[in-house]
Amino acid sequence: MSHDVADEKLAELGRQRIAWADTHMPVLASIRERFAKERPLDGITVAACLHITTETANLLRTLKAGGARVVACASNPLSTQDDVAASLALDEGIDTYAIKGEDGETYYRHMDAVLDERPQMTMDDGCDLVSRLHQARPDQVPEVIAGTEETTTGVIRLRAMEADKALRFPIVAVNDADTKHMFDNRYGTGQSTLDGIIRATNVLLAGKIIVVAGYGYCGKGVASRARGMGAQVVVTEVDPLRALEAVMDGFRVEPMADAAREGDIFITVTGNRDVLRSDHFEVMKDGAILANSGHFDIEIDLDALAAKAGAHGRRQVREFVEEFLVDGRRLLVVAEGRLVNLGAAEGHPAAVMDMSFANQALCAEWALSQKDTLEPRVYDVPRDIDSEIARLKLETMNTPIDVLTPAQVEYLSSWTVGT
Ligand SMILES: NC(=O)c1ccc[n+]([C@@H]2O[C@H](COP(=O)([O-])OP(=O)(O)OC[C@H]3O[C@@H](n4cnc5c(N)ncnc54)[C@H](O)[C@@H]3O)[C@@H](O)[C@H]2O)c1
Repeated sequence: MSHDVADEKLAELGRQRIAWADTHMPVLASIRERFAKERPLDGITVAACLHITTETANLLRTLKAGGARVVACASNPLSTQDDVAASLALDEGIDTYAIKGEDGETYYRHMDAVLDERPQMTMDDGCDLVSRLHQARPDQVPEVIAGTEETTTGVIRLRAMEADKALRFPIVAVNDADTKHMFDNRYGTGQSTLDGIIRATNVLLAGKIIVVAGYGYCGKGVASRARGMGAQVVVTEVDPLRALEAVMDGFRVEPMADAAREGDIFITVTGNRDVLRSDHFEVMKDGAILANSGHFDIEIDLDALAAKAGAHGRRQVREFVEEFLVDGRRLLVVAEGRLVNLGAAEGHPAAVMDMSFANQALCAEWALSQKDTLEPRVYDVPRDIDSEIARLKLETMNTPIDVLTPAQVEYLSSWTVGT
């Protein structure tokens, strides 16, 4: 047993908050109950590289109930909730290596500590763990039976590994389940991104011009919630279909070169790099707020911004808000350009992570049960897992739905009946 957390004395607070989140995660709780009886993960060491939040703690408790030995590290240097890390280590006996604000060297040292436990399964969020395992410890890779991946960016990296024939064990793309990205990315990121910006800045959203870069599931959620708070929303995109969708959803769509001049708040959610860059910083208004909710801290070109501000032109003005002085204009970067919802707030509400993490738990079970047939590639979440999670979630929301009549079943499977 070993761990590296910021403050063990925070464990009690962490325990309380984990229990609170658990009350909003009934689907995961029902899986945990079954796992405790059936122990489908018996004897397996799971290495979890996830945001160390209250919701993740409930996922890790579920894996443990299923018989797994769990070791955990952070999937982002700024997203750890230190009280949760302390509770996981002290109350749950889960070796946890995560400290909010850890530097890059500590981040990878923690990841290495987790890999030292020689896992048979990986549970990743962004593909840093799998990438490190393949690049730095190729000898250890054959010990891994399977893995799961939580986010869009991680799935993109894994598909690149698969295309390069570099991926050496099967991974289930949890992100691509409908019960994950249609809800977590849209409603979760939508709400919690604004929550992070508001907590960090206390800014009034009503009447502001908010520029949302990227109109994927995350961008759709952020844009619609920002509109709901009374902001005028401008969307920027590179994909014509997504841009068209934004136009038809009633948003103004512009190139960033134009939007940069008018935005009060900029939110990047593209999974791409340099979305806000030097020429944009040059035309932004005084007091513009810049935040990112995409997976990595590469969407705002902070090196270029820092170069423009110079050594004396940047200062911390509030917790999680840094001011960069550019030609006399103040540009305010929230949460170091890292995931703002996890850096400056608590991440997604538990009710939505209930479905994402139900997918994680059931996909871990599924991958193990299929270990003799799966190949080293990226797998979709089986449709019956996705449907079952939606069914269970509706049940916990007391929302019954209609059932097909036998005549309807027959009609939908026949091609002979027409006009
Ligand atoms: N903050 C969170 O908690 C959280 C939750 C889920 C996903 N994510 C991350 O958010 C990012 C987006 O996820 P998603 O599911 O919406 O992905 P997505 O692929 O569905 O959408 C991304 C969109 O960005 C667009 N885009 C790419 N480059 C662009 C550019 N230069 N300018 C404007 N638009 C551009 C793409 O065309 C696409 O429509 C990923 O990095 C994902 O891992 C974060």
